[in-house]
Amino acid sequence: MAIETLVEWMKNSNSTVVLTGAGMSTESGIPDFRSQSGWWQNIDPRSVASVESLQHHYELFREFYQMRIEALTNIEPHIGHQILADWEKRGLVALIATQNVDQLHHKAGSEEVAELHGNIVTIRCTSCVKPHTIEHFLNNSVCTYCTGKLRPNVVLFGESLPQEAWNLSFNEIQNADLVIVIGTSLEVYPVNQLPRMARGKLVYINLDVSGSTRQFDLVLEGSAGEVLTKIDQKLALF
Ligand code: APR
Repeated sequence: MAIETLVEWMKNSNSTVVLTGAGMSTESGIPDFRSQSGWWQNIDPRSVASVESLQHHYELFREFYQMRIEALTNIEPHIGHQILADWEKRGLVALIATQNVDQLHHKAGSEEVAELHGNIVTIRCTSCVKPHTIEHFLNNSVCTYCTGKLRPNVVLFGESLPQEAWNLSFNEIQNADLVIVIGTSLEVYPVNQLPRMARGKLVYINLDVSGSTRQFDLVLEGSAGEVLTKIDQKLALF
């Protein structure tokens, strides 16, 4: 029944926005952060993914992101990413606002993607901000222009979000007829405030729905790949 309701809402929506989190990428083989097998189970996020760690514990910081970048090797988008990219082409999705830094939505062919937490596949110098290759970062090289430290273009704890991605996501979510939130615990500020901005229908697709889901008009418990496949099959019948 819930799937049919969502399909109905999608068909009647003039503007649908999707907000994703790390749960969108676990079926591709990348751990999320706060589940049993998540990154933060054994690592204190402040010690490796903060401005403090970049400035004062650079080797720890660099090793952590080297591990995350290497974990992306041979990782491909799964059916869920592909369905969202297909829905964009069919005009069913206007924007994907994502907390993910793995660019799997791009790799699946989505073009309208707002990277709210940046990404770990592009690198810059912390001092002169000049771009560098990922190989430079992985080889522990310094900036070739100013010998500054290199870092991924990821938003660290203690940093503000990229303004353009935030403004686009905020406006699109506020004006959307339908907002579908997929694979996120909504524990991290300020992205966890975005669903509250939605004036349209608000839907939650997540493996774990034990937390508060009162703000949602519809909740679909399950994995992103499976639930999106079921919706796509129903959509095809209409
Ligand atoms: N399908 C659907 N949901 C899933 C799946 C899946 N295959 N796998 C995991 N989940 C759910 C988990 O149950 C959990 O509720 O996705 C959620 C992931 O939550 P988090 O690990 O907290 O990840 P996220 O919400 O993206 O974290 C936000 O925190 O650490 C920072 O910058 C990091 O962007 C990240 C932010």
